[in-house]
Amino acid sequence: METITIFFFISTFLPILINSSTAIDTITLNQIIKDGDTIVSAGGNFELGFFSPGSSKHRYLGIWYKKISSETQTVVWVANRASPITDKSGVLKVVSPGNLVLLNSANDVLWLSNMSSSAANPVAQLLDTGNLVMRDGSDSNPGDYLWQSFDYPGDTFLPGMKFGINLTTGLNRFLSSWTSPDDPSPGEYTNKFHSGGYPQILMRKGSSIQFRSGPWNGLRFSGMPNLKPNPIYTFQFVYDQEEVYYKYELVNSSVVSRMVLNPGGMIQRFTWIDRTQSWLLFLTAQMDNCDRYALCGPYGSCNINNSPACGCLKGFEPRFAKEWDVADWSNGCVRKTRLECGNGDGFLKVSGLKLPDTQHSWFNVSMGLEECERVCLRNCNCTGYANVDIRDGGSGCLIWFGDLIDIREYAENGQDLYVRMAASELEKLNSSSAKRRVRIITIPISLVGVVLLILFLFFQVRNKRKLKRVGMTRFNPERNYNDENDRKDIELPLFDFATISKATDDFSISNKIGEGGFGPVYKGTLEEGQQIAVKRLSKSSRQGLDEFKNEVLCIAKLQHRNLVKLLGCCIEEEERMLIYEYLPNKSLDSFIFDEKQSMLLDWPKRFNIINGIARGLLYLHQDSRLRVIHRDLKAGNILLDNEMNPKISDFGMARSFGGNETQANTTRVVGTYGYMSPEYAIDGLFSIKSDVFSFGVLVLEIISGKKNRGFYHPDHNLNLLGHAWNLHKEGKSSELIDTSMADACNHPEVIRSIHIGLLCVQQSPEDRPSMSSVVLMFCTDMVLPQPKQPGFFSERKLLDADYSSSKAESHSANLLTVTFLGPR
Ligand SMILES: *[C@@H]1O[C@H](CO)[C@@H](O)[C@H](O)[C@H]1NC(C)=O
Ligand SMILES: *[C@@H]1O[C@H](CO)[C@@H](O)[C@H](O)[C@H]1NC(C)=O
Ligand SMILES: *[C@@H]1O[C@H](CO)[C@@H](O)[C@H](O)[C@H]1NC(C)=O
Ligand SMILES: *[C@@H]1O[C@H](CO)[C@@H](O)[C@H](O)[C@H]1NC(C)=O
Ligand SMILES: *[C@@H]1O[C@H](CO)[C@@H](O)[C@H](O)[C@H]1NC(C)=O
Ligand SMILES: *[C@@H]1O[C@H](CO)[C@@H](O)[C@H](O)[C@H]1NC(C)=O
Repeated sequence: METITIFFFISTFLPILINSSTAIDTITLNQIIKDGDTIVSAGGNFELGFFSPGSSKHRYLGIWYKKISSETQTVVWVANRASPITDKSGVLKVVSPGNLVLLNSANDVLWLSNMSSSAANPVAQLLDTGNLVMRDGSDSNPGDYLWQSFDYPGDTFLPGMKFGINLTTGLNRFLSSWTSPDDPSPGEYTNKFHSGGYPQILMRKGSSIQFRSGPWNGLRFSGMPNLKPNPIYTFQFVYDQEEVYYKYELVNSSVVSRMVLNPGGMIQRFTWIDRTQSWLLFLTAQMDNCDRYALCGPYGSCNINNSPACGCLKGFEPRFAKEWDVADWSNGCVRKTRLECGNGDGFLKVSGLKLPDTQHSWFNVSMGLEECERVCLRNCNCTGYANVDIRDGGSGCLIWFGDLIDIREYAENGQDLYVRMAASELEKLNSSSAKRRVRIITIPISLVGVVLLILFLFFQVRNKRKLKRVGMTRFNPERNYNDENDRKDIELPLFDFATISKATDDFSISNKIGEGGFGPVYKGTLEEGQQIAVKRLSKSSRQGLDEFKNEVLCIAKLQHRNLVKLLGCCIEEEERMLIYEYLPNKSLDSFIFDEKQSMLLDWPKRFNIINGIARGLLYLHQDSRLRVIHRDLKAGNILLDNEMNPKISDFGMARSFGGNETQANTTRVVGTYGYMSPEYAIDGLFSIKSDVFSFGVLVLEIISGKKNRGFYHPDHNLNLLGHAWNLHKEGKSSELIDTSMADACNHPEVIRSIHIGLLCVQQSPEDRPSMSSVVLMFCTDMVLPQPKQPGFFSERKLLDADYSSSKAESHSANLLTVTFLGPR
């Protein structure tokens, strides 16, 4: 009897309970939402109401994340973007026959959802996806939307949204930036699918194209090699008779991730990190200068690892050599030999590319490459062809008409393009491969010469004009930044010699805090009391001059709280100096490898240090406009501020790079034993993954309190990496933990950190995670893969005997590392 009553109770009242709880996510006919009222989606993900962006006093109706702290209120959609309400009188209602309307106190319509069909019982509902939808309450199918905010996005592309075109109606769902963080009105930038030719996404400033995604190739957009399967989201591209769109879905719906076109025209993906209560920049679509649309003009090709970045495709030469030589590449290249259509043209295969602009193209997904070639050959306007889809060895046919434009080269994930060429030119190219090799070597060398000359003249001119402190100047003549923003970014204060001399007490020995191949480092105090560290280039150091220039070029644009801050530089006559913020706490090695000092670093502090280094490195690899590989990451180059926050220093060896996985070869192996990845130490190949290796070594050192190099264990001949790996395999990782860190014993976070460290030091660079994955591993609980064998795990033998005898000499001569000795 009792059970029946309970059952009865549940079945009668539960529906009512559910109804009353869902009521707060809907607005029914003639119901109003005033400024101050909000509605919240059923699962509590999103909230709709009135807000004021940034420092603005204007009121807007918008949708924001409910679960994210109110200080960092993140708005994902705005109704009245261009029609702000000046007071708090705004009212939102649902009116017949089914429109949402926003009114002010004078009853002016500021915004209207403008639905074409009508509903008997219109109901607006805020869904947990962030979609505000209008339904007919009498319609039994809740998936039929009469109107939805997802069809009219602002600057934010949310999971589940279709970004693209309904080809039946022409409805194009695209992003448009905010004017500024204080003003959501449509700004200068739009990011939109273009359906002429094979579809691609074009990011424009006004009407001028800035960035192009490239066509979809079955795996990703041709111009976005960073778009890869990842732990955060899955993605999908659909193109059929009815629609073309791109869409993504979160792997774990409790993760918060969004894509934004920011007011500066950058397309960025952020993921919310609960632990730090902040947004982590996960990916930027535009990677570097080569992503500027058509930077190298028609038939030009951009390669960020070259200097200058622009070159002509094989068989082409600059249209205007003079312009080209002064880095104006906009007119691009022309054929050396004219095409003679019908008279035996052929094709040259060029690999590793971002495919050219497809606005003037034609395609057939069922045609093979051979037929594709025949079709192209028959049409005199056809200039090249490629596969549409690169999966399973390639399929489909995509052909281009007219000039091939906006091509770049990638080190990884590039595509093949067949470029139409006169038969005679092809023969020439075929027979002159030897000659070409010579050209490849001589061109860069002469260019390096030109660049050095420009730098030299530049510094000379600076010297002649006796500069006063904080004159602004511009560095980096190597790069062609056209943007005003970029220019501002590389302005760097110049200090005059007298100021620095005074600050350091005439470079007195008592102020000297370090010494390196670059020259001595002094501590100083400016008149206004600010403490500085001054790196002074020794006059004798010829090589140091290059490092100096490199460091200025590299760090001037970098700003991150985990990078040491460059305050300015001093260039006067023979003097070359870099002025940094002064960090009183010395470097990390003086703590972790010292018996007494290491007591000061408990696990939370060490974890904070590891995380800070990871973020600083992620910024270098990913977030900054220049993609930088540090190349000499080690405990001695991590400085600590008052609160023990880590700051990466010493960019003398850093190199700026293009793609995510870009690697390069160098004849000068610089770096520090024990931190160098095998591929770098042995083959001179470096990439962001070599930095990841060094980072992994650092993690293991921070946890164990032992140096990788010089590690000794009575039972075996392995170094720290090998030792850690063995312990991990035996499930005894806790034995690695520094004994002076008693609080950390068996702490799951420590064991996890060792695991992540081992993933970073794996032998093969491909196996090592990228820094964005590393940061995610540290701040989420995602499942970690098992690490494979580390590189150099028995390095003691390898490095100390065979390897060092062959390379040690050149190495030590090039080791330009400043070791901070700390204040005396
Ligand atoms: C509503 O849409 C119609 C056409 O569908 C258009 O003519 C009208 O200007 C729109 N009104 C507003 C306020 O956007
Ligand atoms: C395109 O829009 C029309 C009209 O709203 C709709 O009926 C159709 O289902 C849409 N097509 C797709 C593929 O969504
Ligand atoms: C999703 O993430 C949450 C929080 O990070 C976690 O608790 C949960 O187990 C995850 N779910 C899945 C299916 O991975
Ligand atoms: C695409 O190619 C296939 C195979 O060659 C052919 O049968 C088909 O007619 C072509 N389609 C178009 C639209 O040209
Ligand atoms: C080639 O292009 C020219 C100029 O755009 C046009 O007049 C001509 O019809 C095109 N020829 C073919 C075969 O498409
Ligand atoms: C280029 O040379 C190779 C052999 O060296 C030959 O097989 C090929 O047909 C040549 N291509 C052209 C276009 O002459």
